[in-house]
This record gives sequence, structure tokens and C-alpha cells, in this order.
Amino acid sequence: MSALSRHYRLKQGKTQDKARLLKFMQLTYQELFPEQSNFSHLSKTIDQYLSSKTPIWWLEYQPNKETKSDMIACLWMGTAIDQVNGHQYGHIFLIYVKPNHRRQGLATTLIQQGQQWVKQQGYDQIGLQVFKRNQAALKLYTKLGFSPQSYLMFKSGNINE
Ligand SMILES: CC(C)(COP(=O)(O)OP(=O)(O)OC[C@H]1O[C@@H](n2cnc3c(N)ncnc32)[C@H](O)[C@@H]1OP(=O)(O)O)[C@@H](O)C(=O)NCCC(=O)NCCS
Repeated sequence: MSALSRHYRLKQGKTQDKARLLKFMQLTYQELFPEQSNFSHLSKTIDQYLSSKTPIWWLEYQPNKETKSDMIACLWMGTAIDQVNGHQYGHIFLIYVKPNHRRQGLATTLIQQGQQWVKQQGYDQIGLQVFKRNQAALKLYTKLGFSPQSYLMFKSGNINE
């Protein structure tokens, strides 16, 4: 796994971290969909999926001993089932790095941590969903060896047309 600068510390999250996880989920969706203001429904997703089987990792930032530390990035993972072969695999639910801390390999480090967890579970596949408009994430995942396998297609508005 790539080395973290000494100002950052990787921490295993807890199922009690719900409020912080919700904040990070909301930051993610607000950034990707700035035209929308209400993401309160995301707490239902967390209520449904957060458990000891869906681990969280946080990155804590503390530039020096005198400064209060801050959580600046997170990865939330779970599992899914590949409908083609029935195998379980690791699924990335959420990855978020605060803007001031981007482009220094932190998301890469978190995903490497997630990959290690997936391997420990005995799975040999890891997947995720990414929005087409999210070019930064698409580039990140491509760089890390992910490749698209399917399209998620929607028809909205007057769906009878
Ligand atoms: C996507 C995100 C997690 C990337 O975090 P990060 O810590 O900056 O990523 P890394 O530093 O590990 O980037 C690794 C590589 O990904 C690619 N990449 C990351 N951000 C990029 C950007 N904004 N534009 C182009 N390429 C980008 C680059 O190839 C980069 O390598 P390089 O810096 O050597 O060129 C971060 O931008 C983020 O939190 N975005 C908002 C939330 C989000 O979109 N989450 C993903 C939902 S699917």
C-alpha cells in the first residue's frame, strides 16, 4: 500500500460513526449534484446498510501536534453478488476526499485498503457505481485498473412516451 504522509492517519471506522458517514455522503452528492439541495434521504441508506459487515475507514489529518485533528476522507465498503456467477464481491459504497486534500494519492490509499479487506474476505472482485459526469472518479478508477462492465440506464419524465 502506498505510504501516507506523516500528517495523515488511517483509522478503522465504527458502526457508531453514522452521523459522520452521513455528512460525508451528503458532501459527495452535493458536490456531484449541486442543483439539488436536499439529501436527507441518505440517512435511510445508512440505516439499511451500515453494520459490522460494511466497514468504514477514515483518514485523519493533523498538520502538527498543536492543531486539532480533522477527518478529511473516508471509504465505506460492503459486498454484493455478481449475478452472472453468483460470487460475492467487495463493493465500494462511498469514497470521499475533502477538496483541499485531493490529488495526493489519498483516495488511492483508501481503495488499496479496501482491496486488502476484499482479499481478506476471500473475494477476488471489487466493484462500484460511478456517475458518468464524475470524470475525476472515472479517471481514478481507470488508473487503479477498474473497467466498465455494464450500463445503468434510466428513462425519466413521461416514461410512456
Ligand atoms: C474522486 C476523488 C475520491 C479522488 O480523490 P483523490 O484523493 O484526489 O484521488 P488520488 O489523489 O488518489 O488520485 C489518483 C488518480 O486519479 C485521477 N484523478 C483524481 N482526481 C482527478 C481529477 N480531479 N481530474 C483528473 N484525474 C483525477 C488521477 O489520475 C490521479 O492521479 P494523479 O494525481 O497522479 O494524476 C475525490 O475527487 C472526491 O472525493 N470527489 C468527490 C466524491 C466522489 O466523486 N467520490 C466518488 C464517487 S463514485
